[in-house]
Amino acid sequence: MTDPLDPRPEDLKQRVWESIQRDELPPRDDRGRMRVVMNNLVLHLHPSKVAKASLKFTYTWGLGGLALLLVMLLSLTGVMLMFVYTPSPDTAYQDMLSLQTEIRFGQFIRNVHHWSGNLLVIVAFLHMLRVFFTGGFRTPREFNWILGLSLLLLVIAANFTGYLLPWDQLAYWAVTVGSSLLSFVPLIGEGLRNFLLGGPEVSAATLTNFYGLHVAIIPLTLMGVISFHIWRVRKDGLSIPHRLDGSIDGATGHQIEKVTTLPHLVSRELAFALVMTGAILLWSVWVDAPLETAANPDHSPNPAKAAWYFMGLQELLLHFHPVFGAIVIPLLGLGMLAFLPYQRFDLSAEGVWFRSQKGRWMAYVGAITGIVGVPLLVLLDEYYLDLPGTFPNLPTAISNGWIPLAALLLMLITYYDGMKRFFKASACETRQSVFVLLVMSFIVLTVIGVAFRGEGMTLMAPWEVQ
Ligand code: HEM
Repeated sequence: MTDPLDPRPEDLKQRVWESIQRDELPPRDDRGRMRVVMNNLVLHLHPSKVAKASLKFTYTWGLGGLALLLVMLLSLTGVMLMFVYTPSPDTAYQDMLSLQTEIRFGQFIRNVHHWSGNLLVIVAFLHMLRVFFTGGFRTPREFNWILGLSLLLLVIAANFTGYLLPWDQLAYWAVTVGSSLLSFVPLIGEGLRNFLLGGPEVSAATLTNFYGLHVAIIPLTLMGVISFHIWRVRKDGLSIPHRLDGSIDGATGHQIEKVTTLPHLVSRELAFALVMTGAILLWSVWVDAPLETAANPDHSPNPAKAAWYFMGLQELLLHFHPVFGAIVIPLLGLGMLAFLPYQRFDLSAEGVWFRSQKGRWMAYVGAITGIVGVPLLVLLDEYYLDLPGTFPNLPTAISNGWIPLAALLLMLITYYDGMKRFFKASACETRQSVFVLLVMSFIVLTVIGVAFRGEGMTLMAPWEVQ
């Protein structure tokens, strides 16, 4: 008999179930099962059934989910750090020290936040590569690719604004160098930089601006775009891995075999999240986030380097006129990425990493060309070429901008044409090889900037770089 004043069921198990499910314990029939699905949070995030083939770990490598996990870890540890940190040049560095010495688990929480933030930049980039290779940006997912690109930019912006907060030498000078890239934007660059920094140089106003961006504006935007991104994955469905002959991976023929999300997908997600959280926590126990001496605006370290993810751009600046290194080339790259899903593609070739065995070899050739070609070009420019000296009467925007850019584009076109003819390949296979070449070139430039540039930004062996 239920109490008329409290109509909830007497059985505690039943009451707990209803409080979570918003419904009574359903009978074990079809309608009951349907009601569970309708009222279940997990099944609002996921469809009730997914293609068995897309559960294969080596298809997505769990990268989208890992990015999500990292965002959660960052939010949690970020809020904890806010209890201790005050964004003022007088206190910020001291707060970092007290995290190390006075606050229980303070350094550990900072480590988790620092390493998760850096890992997120890498994971979002790798996730983008996986989506590119498996053609996950094809119809109907074109716009989700664009949302993903904005997520990548937001993740970098979040990392960059957080970089300044410890207010040590590393932070102060990396942000000084990084933000100087902005001043190369024609006409509005200087104004833009002053607006962001709250003045002509990095100061107390910059710290307040960056803090507001880092803890409120960027995270809120990021959460909004992530929700939209995941909602689109839910609506469009995850692309399904295929074999080269067009049959579905892990299935016989073209039949899409489905399994229920609970438990098949959710148990895998939970296990992966647990393992990754464990790995990040362990790493953070052993490896401390860097902290140099307190920021000193009068003493610039030599070399003064940008944050590692901007080192590819800083390296480009050493070879090109600043407007080309900092603005034209990065915008060209971003434009190409944004335009990618709107080109004409063979829509049936979705879910394969490489279009054919030949396509795989062509991708390897792209990677090797980047690994060998970029260092050769860097050495050539460093020791032999002097374009402004060769054309002293031309403005440097032409001698060190238009001319090398035109030469690079010509090399790319020759590469495209040569690969297509030599391998008798399709446009899709050739485009993939060019993409691999460009991505590899960017990675090699970043590695050169991080590991091979020492005092005065001269080239030297990694063990000579301080
Ligand atoms: C904070 C960053 C990001 C988060 C949290 C995130 C999250 C996710 C998740 C959970 C999935 C489904 C599972 C998976 O594919 O691994 C997914 C799929 C997808 N993501 Fe992202 N993502 C992020 C960044 C990006 C970036 C940088 C791009 C590309 C520029 C991108 C484009 C896509 C696309 C097109 C899909 C559908 C792929 C398919 O159906 O095969 N995402 N994302």
